[in-house]
Amino acid sequence: MPIVGVACMAFTGAAIISDLIQIIYSSRPFGYDDAMLNGVLMDARRCNMRDGVSGALICRQDVYLQLLEGPAQAVEATCDRIRRDDRHLEMAIRVNQQVAARMFGDWAMFHDPAKSWLWSAQDISDGALERASGAHFKQVFERLAADAKTG
Ligand SMILES: Cc1cc2nc3c(=O)[nH]c(=O)nc-3n(C[C@H](O)[C@H](O)[C@H](O)COP(=O)(O)O)c2cc1C
Repeated sequence: MPIVGVACMAFTGAAIISDLIQIIYSSRPFGYDDAMLNGVLMDARRCNMRDGVSGALICRQDVYLQLLEGPAQAVEATCDRIRRDDRHLEMAIRVNQQVAARMFGDWAMFHDPAKSWLWSAQDISDGALERASGAHFKQVFERLAADAKTG
C-alpha cells in the first residue's frame, strides 16, 4: 500500500529547533475506522501546525505508533492531550529524548497505514511491543522517514 502523507510545513529555523525533543509512544485504538482515523489526523495536523510539532503516525486496527517532535514544552503538552483522548487506550511512552534535528520536519503529521515490516497483529498480541527496545522503535521511524523522502 502506498504511503499517504501530507507535506504542509517545514521547520528549519534555528530558533525553533533549539530545544527539540522526540517522543515515540504506542497505544491501542478504541473504535478504529476510517472516519475516526481521519478525525484524529485532522486534529493532529491542525494542532501541530499551530504548535510547531511534527511527526508521523503509523496506524492499524490493533496499534498506533506515533512519533512527535518539536520544542519540549509543545511536545509534552501535545502528549498530555493525546493521553486524555478516548479514541485510544494503553498509551505507553517508548522513547523520550532530546534530538539535534527533526525526522519529519516537512509534515504536521505524516500518516502511514501500518506496513508489512512492522510487527504482525499476532506479534503485538504476544507482547512484541513490550519486548522491543527504544532503538528498535526509532529504527521503525527512521525507515519510514527514508521512505517518506523518496515518496
Ligand atoms: C492516536 C492519536 C494521535 C493524535 N495525535 C495528535 C497530534 O499529533 N497532535 C495533537 O495536537 N493532537 C493529536 N491527537 C488529538 C488529541 O488527542 C486532541 O484531540 C487534540 O490535540 C485537540 O485537543 P483539545 O480538544 O484539548 O484542544 C491525537 C489523538 C489520537 C487518538
